[in-house]
Amino acid sequence: MQSGNAARGSFGSQLGVILASAGSAVGLGNIWRFPTEVGKGGGAAFILIYLGFIFLIAMPVMISEFIIGRSARSNAIGAFQKLAPGKLWVAAGIMGVLGGFLVLSFYSVVAGWTLHYTIQSALGQLQGLQTTVNGQQTTDFAAAFNAFVSDPWQPILYIAVFLLLTHLVVARGIRHGIERYSKLMMPMLLAIIVLLVCFSLMMPGASEGIRFLLKPDLSRVTPEVILGAMGQAFFSLSVGLGCLVTYASYFNNETRLVSSAMNVCIIDTMVAVLSGFIIFPTVFSVGIAPDAGPGLVFITLPNVFLLTFGEMPVAGYIFSLLFYVLLLLAALTSSISMHEICTAFISEHFSHSRKRAAAIVTIVCLVLGSFCSLSFGPWQEVTIFGRGFFDLFDYTVTKFLMPLGGLLITVFVGWWLDRKLVEGQLTNDGSISIRAMKPLLFLIRWVAPIGILVIFLNELFPLFMMN
Ligand code: PFF
Repeated sequence: MQSGNAARGSFGSQLGVILASAGSAVGLGNIWRFPTEVGKGGGAAFILIYLGFIFLIAMPVMISEFIIGRSARSNAIGAFQKLAPGKLWVAAGIMGVLGGFLVLSFYSVVAGWTLHYTIQSALGQLQGLQTTVNGQQTTDFAAAFNAFVSDPWQPILYIAVFLLLTHLVVARGIRHGIERYSKLMMPMLLAIIVLLVCFSLMMPGASEGIRFLLKPDLSRVTPEVILGAMGQAFFSLSVGLGCLVTYASYFNNETRLVSSAMNVCIIDTMVAVLSGFIIFPTVFSVGIAPDAGPGLVFITLPNVFLLTFGEMPVAGYIFSLLFYVLLLLAALTSSISMHEICTAFISEHFSHSRKRAAAIVTIVCLVLGSFCSLSFGPWQEVTIFGRGFFDLFDYTVTKFLMPLGGLLITVFVGWWLDRKLVEGQLTNDGSISIRAMKPLLFLIRWVAPIGILVIFLNELFPLFMMN
């Protein structure tokens, strides 16, 4: 196995590896997107299918990314160039870096909204009573949300602030930036989740929400729900774009790839399910429909805070502030990892300093993120292939680049890479034994690629029919 290259930087501890990778995985996908999908997909039935995808498909992709990253010790594109010089496999890396720019751009829009809502709740605007639309006091949170996201300037300002925060962490490097801040933010995030779950379970009528989460309603499981569960599993674990190839290139030789991946999957799933335990008991306690879509955390929840805490403003203040801080921390630890995919590539490929490479990524994503934001307002009519920028970027990454990347990555590791190299990475050159080696290789070679292919084809056909 190649040893670490000091100039590239590396994680200093196993805890750092797990918290940084879990930080990438735990994000808006867990707290914002997962409950929405659970609401649409019939509660526990969706969760069961989702768990299957996490452990049978997405985790093998994650382990494959770890193998590529640590054996090549290079950025997402450089890794394929090193392991398969002159071959077309590099396309997987190129798609990943491109995907990194796109995902960070549209993610920053929602992260920017989150920043705005965090500040609003800190100022006491959300816990209850009212908010402001066009200078008028109102309790219509849907109107408030729509007025905010369609404003041409305000959301872009928030994107800029959010990207700047991400930039400052990434520019400091692996150990002093990414690892240090993950070790600070992840424990805070986990503590807030536990607090909010306790809070939410104490609400009157919470049991109905718990029943919804735990009772599988098979009648709502449609093919779209199954496709949605797979997309959600990929997005939630950050796999398919080479993000974890990049992170694994900073692992040291003692890092245990399989157990690290297991830990990350368990933490990510726990946070997603616990977010369900925060949102559904709260939402059911005031009798609002749980499948309110992406507006769930920006429209439904403020309404819930109003209905629940109208009489208890202090409790409402604490709950709403903690909730949006949680969402913000989750967004930040993930955006750092997206930024790193692009920064590592630009800095290594074009021999730029990390600071300069990070600045380029931040500026490009600010421009692209502004396009996405404008697609909710003045550029509503501007469409490419029938989609506004936000939808187009979201669709391209989650429905196209991530599954295709996952497919190429598992085929590359399962069928193309030398078996000795793969086993050497999994066992740290024979120093640890992996009991489940055979089943794991079976998942990487067969189950994951075939599963992804079937689902991917299902995604593509409606696309062709549309044209
Ligand atoms: N896993 C993150 C989430 O659940 O919000 C999103 C994400 C991070 C996607 C990093 C892709 C990526 F490369």
